Amino acid sequence: MSAPSILVVGSMNMDLMMYGISRLPKYGVSVKGSSYAFLPGGKASNQAVAAARLGAAATLVGRVGADDNGHVLVNALQQTGVNTDYVVVDDEAQTGLAPIMVNRHGQYVSYGVRGATDHLGEADVRQALDARAFDFVLMQLEMPIETVFRTYELAAQKNIPVFLDAGPAMRISLERLKGIAIISPNEAETEALTGIPTDTEANLIRAAKHLYAMSTPRYVVLKVGARGALIFDGSTASMIPAFKVNAVDSTAAGDTFSAALVTQLCQGKGIAEATLYANAAAALCVTIKGTINSIPDGQQVQDFLRNYL
Ligand code: RIB
Repeated sequence: MSAPSILVVGSMNMDLMMYGISRLPKYGVSVKGSSYAFLPGGKASNQAVAAARLGAAATLVGRVGADDNGHVLVNALQQTGVNTDYVVVDDEAQTGLAPIMVNRHGQYVSYGVRGATDHLGEADVRQALDARAFDFVLMQLEMPIETVFRTYELAAQKNIPVFLDAGPAMRISLERLKGIAIISPNEAETEALTGIPTDTEANLIRAAKHLYAMSTPRYVVLKVGARGALIFDGSTASMIPAFKVNAVDSTAAGDTFSAALVTQLCQGKGIAEATLYANAAAALCVTIKGTINSIPDGQQVQDFLRNYL
């Protein structure tokens, strides 16, 4: 079976990772951390790397500035086998930058300057879609919202299913995404989209039904961290529990989950099996500090599943 061809559209950032942050600062207050690192990231970069490591032929549509950070990002992606032919080097903007603060439980808060990603537009997406055949499109909300909608519409014209990883958290109308294959927010994103808290399983199901009614996808898949993932197909909700691991950094775990799920569906797996695999890939990701460097490959996920189940 040949590798599925996945088009990832969205953000490319240089991440400034700061570790050991004890609490979030208030304005005018300085808070100490223990170490830092500049690492290639951005939701789309992470997803493209995850898709490539997990067995797909991944192509990325994104924008970087004509600066050192952009150069480092493109090189890092190419080294993992991501096709960067449709990454535009934008002379008018800087490469996106995301300072990310990680606490000792592995939870993070990030601030983003999207830079060149703010110029990512329909024409960039069209170039890739017109040039090649794709089995799935994977996108997020970390780009101009009109580009999100047009990406879906262009893919739909070609009958290519689309997966929306609904991060970062924001409230948007899902009207123009009706009929999308999968919508997958995390807890904060679910609350932002629906206004429904994600504290109990009953509320998760309520939120999933709400999202389903707004976007009529094939599946709503809620990523609920240490609890796992909740799948809703329009009639039945099922919870796929997370794997228990020692979490040191959850950055890129959601991206890894989304790319793993899409890759598995493209390889013919059912939604429950694909979600279990995606939970395993995300679990491995949180055990390592970093962004694209913390994303496992297919062999590592298989070994983890074999040992765990
Ligand atoms: O999902 C994690 C990513 O979100 C980070 O790599 C950061 O760049 C932000 O975009």
